[in-house]
Amino acid sequence: MERNLANLFLTKRTNDIRSSAIREILKITVKDSEFLSFAGGLPNPSLLPTERLTQATETTIRTKKDVAFQYGDSTGYEALKELIFEYFVDEKEDFSKSLCITSGSQQGLAILGQLFMDENTNVLLENPVYLGALQAFSPYRPHFVSLPMEEDGPSIEALETILVREKIHCFYANPSYQNPSTCTWSIAKREKVASLLDAYGVILLEDEAYRYLDFTGTVYPSITSLRKNKDLSFVLGSFSKIISPGFRLGWVSVPKPYETIFTAIKQGYDLNSNQFSQVVLVQLLRDLDIRKHLQKIQTFYANQKNHLVRLLEQYLPEVKFQNPLGGMFLWVEYPNVSAKKMMVKLMENKVVMIPGNEFRLEKSERAFFRMNFSFLPEEQMEEGVRRIQSVYRDIIT
Ligand SMILES: Cc1ncc(COP(=O)(O)O)c(C=O)c1O
Repeated sequence: MERNLANLFLTKRTNDIRSSAIREILKITVKDSEFLSFAGGLPNPSLLPTERLTQATETTIRTKKDVAFQYGDSTGYEALKELIFEYFVDEKEDFSKSLCITSGSQQGLAILGQLFMDENTNVLLENPVYLGALQAFSPYRPHFVSLPMEEDGPSIEALETILVREKIHCFYANPSYQNPSTCTWSIAKREKVASLLDAYGVILLEDEAYRYLDFTGTVYPSITSLRKNKDLSFVLGSFSKIISPGFRLGWVSVPKPYETIFTAIKQGYDLNSNQFSQVVLVQLLRDLDIRKHLQKIQTFYANQKNHLVRLLEQYLPEVKFQNPLGGMFLWVEYPNVSAKKMMVKLMENKVVMIPGNEFRLEKSERAFFRMNFSFLPEEQMEEGVRRIQSVYRDIIT
């Protein structure tokens, strides 16, 4: 391929960075309102606590402007950290850990990549894997190792083989309602993985972006909480799925020995996360019955998921998926088609979902698609599934 002028000036570390197909697809669907999109991962707008948000913003401007309009502490606004400890940190995690507020949990991933990945560092990943993690880690050019997954979590046999064979430095895992596979690890597998990571001295980067989106309100213990060596475990959380992604606020619980270096790297990115959002969020969280709010989200998404499942059973009984316990997606296999061919036809028919290979290091011949159910209203979901049915039937007959 001919290298253009701009490429001549780029660093080697940009070579392996993938652009996100999801963002590209979303751009097209946003411009054209006829598109029905199962592609994104957006919270449903009806779940944003808009009234209370307006009040919280007004109160912040009236009473907290000295704090809200200034630079803040690099590790985050203290009042917000206290509320996170109160509501969102697993009790069995080590409370002596420090908490760092980040600009979305995505920034936490980027910082952890910089902290732990050199060229050829062995980094273990679930297969498939969250694309944003690949984007965050790829600049450091680590050696990615794919872990085969089963319905209830990683294959323990495969994990043991990998740990014996290779010196794994860190493991990035998204154990609850994984994006994209929707897999939720069983407690037994969480315990087993925790003890293996302790035995082999592996750093765990535990991404809990969807932790509070269980359809029945269950909150699974983090793997970190089950480890003996908590100094080798980081947990990432996010307000994006439970309050609003527009705030761009997440957090990382950081073992004390890494607190200073983690904060120094964060300062290099942005000095501190959006101070105004943090102050507004504190007002909001003090005002909101968070348990009720989470229940509302969980019930809403459970209904949305059930609706999409019913539609697929009705219109496309040949497709296969595991019924998820929470989250925002179905991970659906369309038998006997090429995902590429299907994608072209889907775009022509103005319906879109994300091809599974976007989330894989080694491409699969099987046609998986990630289908989001959090966003589309029920009737549009039905029309979307009808369009997919017609594309699929045209291709296989
Ligand atoms: C698994 C996972 N981790 C992290 C993120 C990043 O979320 P945010 O930066 O909005 O907190 C996402 C976003 O969709 C995600 O799906």
